[in-house]
Amino acid sequence: MTTPPRSAPAALDTATHPRKSPAATRALTGEDAVLRAAYRLCRRTTRQHDPAMYALVQLMPAGLRPACWALWAAATALDDLADEPDVAPAERAARVEAWTVSLVHDLAAGTSSDPVRHALVDAAGRWRLDLTSLQGAMASARDDAHDRRFADWAAWRAWCNKEVVPWVEQVRHLFEQAGAPMTLRLDRQTDYERFVDGAQLTDVLTDLSTDLAQGLLLLPQEALEPFPGAEEDLLQGRWSPAVAALITELAALARRRVTRPAMTTGMHPGAAIVLETAAGLLRAQLDAVEAAGPTLLQRTPRPSVVARARLLVPARLRSTLAWSLTPLTAPTVPGPRRPKGPTPSVSLAAENTGLRPPPSHPSGARPPMIPAGRMPAHVAVIMDGNGRWAEQHGLQRSDGHRAGTAAVREIVYGALEIGLRHLTLYAFSTENWKRDAEEITAILATLQSELDEAPFRDLDVRQRWSGRPDRLPEDLVDSLRREEARTRARTGLTLTVCINYGGRDEITQAAAALARAAREGEVDPDHLNEDDFARHLPHPDMPEADLLWRTGNEQRTSNFLPWHAAYAELYFSPGYWPDMDRRDLWQAITEYSRRQRRHGAVPGRLTSPDTHHSPPHTQPDPRHRAR
Ligand code: FPP
Repeated sequence: MTTPPRSAPAALDTATHPRKSPAATRALTGEDAVLRAAYRLCRRTTRQHDPAMYALVQLMPAGLRPACWALWAAATALDDLADEPDVAPAERAARVEAWTVSLVHDLAAGTSSDPVRHALVDAAGRWRLDLTSLQGAMASARDDAHDRRFADWAAWRAWCNKEVVPWVEQVRHLFEQAGAPMTLRLDRQTDYERFVDGAQLTDVLTDLSTDLAQGLLLLPQEALEPFPGAEEDLLQGRWSPAVAALITELAALARRRVTRPAMTTGMHPGAAIVLETAAGLLRAQLDAVEAAGPTLLQRTPRPSVVARARLLVPARLRSTLAWSLTPLTAPTVPGPRRPKGPTPSVSLAAENTGLRPPPSHPSGARPPMIPAGRMPAHVAVIMDGNGRWAEQHGLQRSDGHRAGTAAVREIVYGALEIGLRHLTLYAFSTENWKRDAEEITAILATLQSELDEAPFRDLDVRQRWSGRPDRLPEDLVDSLRREEARTRARTGLTLTVCINYGGRDEITQAAAALARAAREGEVDPDHLNEDDFARHLPHPDMPEADLLWRTGNEQRTSNFLPWHAAYAELYFSPGYWPDMDRRDLWQAITEYSRRQRRHGAVPGRLTSPDTHHSPPHTQPDPRHRAR
């Protein structure tokens, strides 16, 4: 083990800040020494557990490395707790939970007796990392302690996304805070997702021997089925022709997924070098997996020192040069500890624990009781009539849109009160670009100011955005993305706002994604079904709309959610949008609850409004065949 060249906190203070900051010259206190030791431990953990990851972190500016070690060591600590051999699943899950709860307490206290959490809490304070988004990953690690089985690639990917992506997001946020944003191009989203898939699959192949020793096979059934006998052979530790063919197939798939040359276009050169080197290291790792043959089942394959050096030496030189061109922002020196108060017990986010119910309607109106089986899971709304409302009141059209925001708030409050799971609002369509520039600017400015004001900040609302980024103001796109990230862990109402959204455009995007998947050999065009298609929609987890409500006395669906609303009950109401309040939503839901839904079946056989509340598309939906 080599001694770190510089202790972590000092590195944090100086490497990002060429002039000496007061913090850098501060006398070494006992607490600093403890913190340095904590970061050193995280660094050691990273280097020992994952040399490739350690090498990648070394390509980052020195000031960012300690936070990366802390994040990585924390993820590893949780993973180790979830995987601990010879410990009963319930006990493993309890240990993960205890670790997570302790982190909540530590964050509130600003310190920890556990060195990894101590470093993590410090890194979060310095770089203003919002650890809320790790909540899902931690819950997933806890569930992992019980079982990890995946029917298909979609379930496997959902697991990767839940477990891995939030940690990657933290690193991205770190870069952002340091002033070197790892700009991700929204039109490259699929490339990033594929890359994460490929990285995770490489990891699974690399760790095969360790996982199998614990009886774990972290591959979906869908991947195993074409190789009869491979699953049993693997679990028995037998290298057979079926196993060899499976490994060859999966290594080739992983290689295709991590080879995404266009992924780094437009990125800061330093960040691009980190990602490109990551891709190179993953391919070298896959070479080692393929070369291992039967030994893959006995030990972890590693690329040769020469193969690694060929990638890392030039990358070190290039990254040093690239980072030297960008002055980075210094981190915040954590301020005084927050006063000790009652500490949250269940949630990672102080913010989540502070969630409150929506304000009541001024009239005291309460939501109607709707029998669970008759409650829609997803209501989609075309908010029409802002312009006419404004004219009716002698105002500008832009005033109508601004007035519409009050109705949006009301409807969200009503949705929370009645227990709706999904609400989707049509705020700006791809066709709305045909309006006067002045009105377009007013609508977009209204949306931006709502995002700035964040009226749902303290409510249990997960905010999402559906639509295309092109032509939208960059600030608006950034704010939408930020809100999505900030509220990702919330479990109440999912509010999707459609901005620069077009239904046919959404279907075209899905068709393009499907064509790309077919080109990569991931789907077979001769065996496609509707669920395969739905999985390639920009928001594959958006459930079907049960109820489509349009205000403003118009009876059209206007290119809104054509896929999701194919079987929606339609409800048209005469009032203009700014006049709506939560009672109108409740009225729409009450009306829906009385309808008899048929989905193409004979009345009296497959009817009753309505029983489905699971996200469709995750399993074959009888309605797709019922026309
Ligand atoms: C349709 O009315 C409404 C719109 C195109 C804009 C909707 C936007 C808002 C309500 C702003 C706030 C939204 C959120 C999600 C915070 P119209 O202009 O077509 O009305 P008209 O048919 O009377 O002309």
